[in-house]
Amino acid sequence: MILRGTVIWTPALGRAEVRERAYLVADGPTVRGVFDQLPADCADKPVTDYGDALIIPAFVDAHVHAPQFLNAGIGMDDELLPWLNRRTFPLEARFADPAFADRAYRAFLNALWEAGTLRFCAFATVHARATWHLMQLAESAGFSGLVGKVNMDRNAPEALTEDTAASLAQTEELALRARSELRNIGFIVTPRFVPSTTPALMEGLGALVEKHQLPVQSHVDENRGEVALVRELHPEARSYAHVYDDFGLMPTGRTVLAHAIWLTDPEVELLREKRVLVAHSPQSNANLTSGIMPARRWLSAGLSCAVASDLAAGSDACLARHAACAVQVSKLNQVSHAEETALHVPEALYLVTKGPGCFAGFAQPSGSFEPGFRADALVVGGERAAALDELLPRTPLERLERFLYAGDSRDICARYAAGALMERPF
Ligand code: GUN
Ligand code: FE
Repeated sequence: MILRGTVIWTPALGRAEVRERAYLVADGPTVRGVFDQLPADCADKPVTDYGDALIIPAFVDAHVHAPQFLNAGIGMDDELLPWLNRRTFPLEARFADPAFADRAYRAFLNALWEAGTLRFCAFATVHARATWHLMQLAESAGFSGLVGKVNMDRNAPEALTEDTAASLAQTEELALRARSELRNIGFIVTPRFVPSTTPALMEGLGALVEKHQLPVQSHVDENRGEVALVRELHPEARSYAHVYDDFGLMPTGRTVLAHAIWLTDPEVELLREKRVLVAHSPQSNANLTSGIMPARRWLSAGLSCAVASDLAAGSDACLARHAACAVQVSKLNQVSHAEETALHVPEALYLVTKGPGCFAGFAQPSGSFEPGFRADALVVGGERAAALDELLPRTPLERLERFLYAGDSRDICARYAAGALMERPF
């Protein structure tokens, strides 16, 4: 793959590299680098020239609920626990039906493709069969990422309450099957959150994590009612986050925890020590009246963060919008905490590309154009942008900012996954 255009990527938080009329070169699925002159051994290779268009790393969604796509924009007037009971669980129960799951998951993957998200960490539902189907669909479409069968054996409606032993057996079977049959989609252990999983289930999942060296994803400290419920359920634990660690569900460098709004100091310390990737979903946090995650404070404390959609509590599939929302919400936070300075655009780009793309649960890093990264890229431009730029020319970083704040899938002219053009999956 050799693409020519204005290449932008973020090798570090807050540092954007901009190369105009440069060449992004990949050898097979892997980035070789960005060059101002075409490397000598590429002289006779085809170059796809995108003119003035931007070439940026494809988005990586560190926290998304695949089945909930059908609820995007629906039922946004509840807080977390009633929202789960009234909106989310009834929808997820429908995934017992393989035909429904097939159609819903195809629609979900099409929406991610449209939005420029080519890698993700997704929750499925408790249904093993539908989860496996999602994994196969994602693999065959050319995505990479991690998918988890949700585990729930308490505080759920009957249709979604699993038998503990069966839940563990199905989890292990899926993890092993994914390892032997899939190349680009892996399995991630997915206890929904502490209120949904009994100590016996968490202990069993922790043993699987250790035995097969699996990654883990869950939720932590999202909503005050949820935090109070966890304290009631686990008075023995030092904190909400410590419950996961106590059960072996926080493997170092291989854990994604969503939200982390209400972390106490010992929790911040624990998450940093375990190199947890914190998935920050500001749009979801606003929709469910959860609170404002102090992004600058957590970043300054040394936590690894990503900005994620949390569909369908986040109502938009496109991470461009969530990146802008993270900046906006950090500004609101700065109003009440002046020392916690707002995020800026290059940071926001990092948080939806390299930040999540380097999660060690993925086999190969993505989200940057450094050598060795998976060559996942978006070409951003097209007629809409060109018409505006003709009237009033903009710098590359202004055009990036405009795409994050006001752009959408119409502005993505092409998507490349693992060094190859990726067409609409379904
Ligand atoms: N906590 C437990 N389950 C969920 C979910 O599906 N969405 C969100 N936002 N939080 C959760
Ligand atoms: Fe979530």
